[in-house]
Amino acid sequence: KTEQFLSLLDGQPVIPVLKIDRVADAVPLARALARGGLPAIEITLRTADALEAIRRVAAEVEEAIVGAGTILNARQFSEAEAAGSKFIVSPGVTRELIAAAANSKTPLLPGAITPGEIMMAREAGLDFLKFFPAEQAGGASFLKALASPFAGIRFCPTGGVTTRNARDYLALPNVVCVGGSWVAPDELVRPGDWAAIEQLAREAADLLKA
Ligand code: 3PG
Repeated sequence: KTEQFLSLLDGQPVIPVLKIDRVADAVPLARALARGGLPAIEITLRTADALEAIRRVAAEVEEAIVGAGTILNARQFSEAEAAGSKFIVSPGVTRELIAAAANSKTPLLPGAITPGEIMMAREAGLDFLKFFPAEQAGGASFLKALASPFAGIRFCPTGGVTTRNARDYLALPNVVCVGGSWVAPDELVRPGDWAAIEQLAREAADLLKA
């Protein structure tokens, strides 16, 4: 499933992590990000309308690849899947989520930071992991130190990642892409400044994986 997931991402270096406060923003936001070169987006289940936002993007924005984030349990996993999510992101790894992923075709990107968590995920056959919260947990130097014992495990660091430090992560051999909310800040989403968001997406899409 990792290969299926990676081909879906198709080399996209940054996955926008979105918190949709007004469901009407979802479609124009997804369109702007796709125009800027970031078709794969993660809509987090941190707001009441998140599932509806996923449903609308899945139905109306053909060019987008919409995933669900902040999935904490099996129920949310299946609700997000039913809404049209192409991938599922979770802040951590639990037995319940491992079982949900095993019973589904939809790839799971679960969070793992410590060697023990990474080994848990690895035993479950999960080898593409979210390193979250990346900056707070130790940043690129921490992640770099995981490359040697965990050859074959690839990461998507998120949490405190911005244009300032994204390159440090993308330069690491065990990093495939980064995630972050900086491409869709509230100050631009609220007034619906889709052109500015498209521009931020374009800059992020140019942060090529080294
Ligand atoms: C996530 O769930 O990936 C993070 O909340 C994104 O973190 P950021 O807002 O610091 O980019």
